[in-house]
Amino acid sequence: MHDTGEPQESHNKIPKGWLLFFFGMIIFMIGYIVSYTPAISGWSFYKGFEKEMAAAAKTRPSVDVKHFSGDKEAIKEGKEIFANTCAPCHNADATGGIGPNLTAATLKFGATEKDIYESIANGRPNGMPPFLQQIGSEKISKVIAFLEPLRKK
Ligand code: HEC
Repeated sequence: MHDTGEPQESHNKIPKGWLLFFFGMIIFMIGYIVSYTPAISGWSFYKGFEKEMAAAAKTRPSVDVKHFSGDKEAIKEGKEIFANTCAPCHNADATGGIGPNLTAATLKFGATEKDIYESIANGRPNGMPPFLQQIGSEKISKVIAFLEPLRKK
């Protein structure tokens, strides 16, 4: 080896694969930045999140009320379920405590069978727990049948 004193690196060609990787990375980075910058592409984490939530809501069983209205046996059972599960918050006669009065003619989240079912099955934001997993749609429907005649018309 003769050392001429000149720098030797410039005599070596950069390997093609390395160049490809290098420019590939730059292109990838630009693409990435463009597609994930909200101000450029309008991308938003929340949009994706909302889409996922909407898809999940569709897989949730829809309102599944069974009609026990006026059925004495069902109302009796509903009363027991209410006493065990709901009375701590709503009082045994449903006139309210920690939770609101359920005998009022109008309820905040609606007083149709479907509205009340949703209140009980899926819960409500300010402290009403969801009960679908715990007691199932049949018992919820019986509780609704129990509540119905208590409500002021
Ligand atoms: C841990 C206490 C608690 C228990 C147990 C509970 N609730 Fe509630 N419930 C609440 C609270 C608090 C609210 C008000 C929620 C809100 O305003 O967002 C509520 C709201 C409701 C509503 C909606 C009322 C309206 O004004 O629209 C219904 C219907 C209801 N509960 C029925 C029931 C039934 C039936 C049970 C038993 C299966 C039950 N709750 C058990 C605390 C409870």
